[in-house]
Order: sequence, then C-alpha cells, then structure tokens
Amino acid sequence: MTIKKFARRAAFALFALTLSPAIGWADDHENPYTGDPVAIEEGQKLWAKAGCYSCHGETAEGAVGPDLTDDEWTYRPTDATIFKAIAVGRPGTNMVAWGNQLDPDEIWKIIAYLRSIYKGDPDKIIW
Ligand code: HEC
Repeated sequence: MTIKKFARRAAFALFALTLSPAIGWADDHENPYTGDPVAIEEGQKLWAKAGCYSCHGETAEGAVGPDLTDDEWTYRPTDATIFKAIAVGRPGTNMVAWGNQLDPDEIWKIIAYLRSIYKGDPDKIIW
C-alpha cells in the first residue's frame, strides 16, 4: 500500500467513525430520496458515472456482482444495510468502499435508483 493510499484509507476510516451517527448508519435510518423522481434520475447517472455497472450489469441485473433488482440479498436489505455496503464495501469481496468517492447524498440517490428498478416480490419490500 502506498503512503498516499494509506493516508486516504486512514482519513476515510476516521471520517466514517466520526460521522457514522450523523449520516445514519443506525439500522433504522431511511433513505430521504426513496420515490423522488429527480433523485432517482441523478442516482442513475451516478450509477453510470461511478462504474457500478461494470460488476453489477448495466441495469443492475447482475454479472460479476450480484443482481441488485431481485429479492435475494446477502443481508436484510434495509436502507442502512445497503448504504453501508456501498459506503464501506464488503471486506473480503470485490465490493470495495465507495465512501471516499461518493458523498452520503450521492449514495442515497443511487439507492433510490436501485429501489426504483426493483423487480422482486412486492411483499418483500421493507424500505
Ligand atoms: C469490482 C466489482 C464491483 C463494483 C465495481 C461494484 N460492486 Fe457492488 N458488489 C460486488 C460484489 C462481488 C458484491 C457481493 C458482496 C458480498 O458478497 O457481500 C457486491 C455487493 C453490493 C451490494 C450488496 C448486495 C447484497 O445483496 O447485499 C450493493 C448494494 C452494491 N454492491 C452496490 C454497488 C454500487 C452502488 C456500486 C457502484 C458505486 C458497486 N456496487 C460497485 C462487486 C462490485
């Protein structure tokens, strides 16, 4: 690891520690943008810009990374859990942390986009 990379990671860890209560990693935190058409459109652009499609597929249908439109999730898919997956990644997998490239607002917009293209069982919606 280069010093620069280490410094960036250390800075992000500190950021995550100090800001986590403020940006709502508590399990009951809800996405302020769910169903908001403007935010959903921005989320779709951010999805493309960040390159999430390179692993999850153009419209999140799944490729190297899992399908994010169905009702099969690794953990209970609360807003807080999905936020955390994107912000801090899933250590030990190809899903890296995006919290140093996307601000919390951008992450919530991407989640609003993902919720808008959900194709799973409507009865399983918990957000
Ligand atoms: C290098 C490939 C890669 C890229 C790029 C990537 N992901 Fe992932 N993602 C994965 C993998 C692999 C997993 C499964 C991790 C696991 O086993 O928990 C995952 C898991 C997830 C999950 C959790 C799914 C679940 O079932 O719990 C979400 C949400 C997610 N990614 C969103 C994103 C978003 C948003 C982006 C872009 C900012 C992104 N990913 C970019 C590979 C990637």
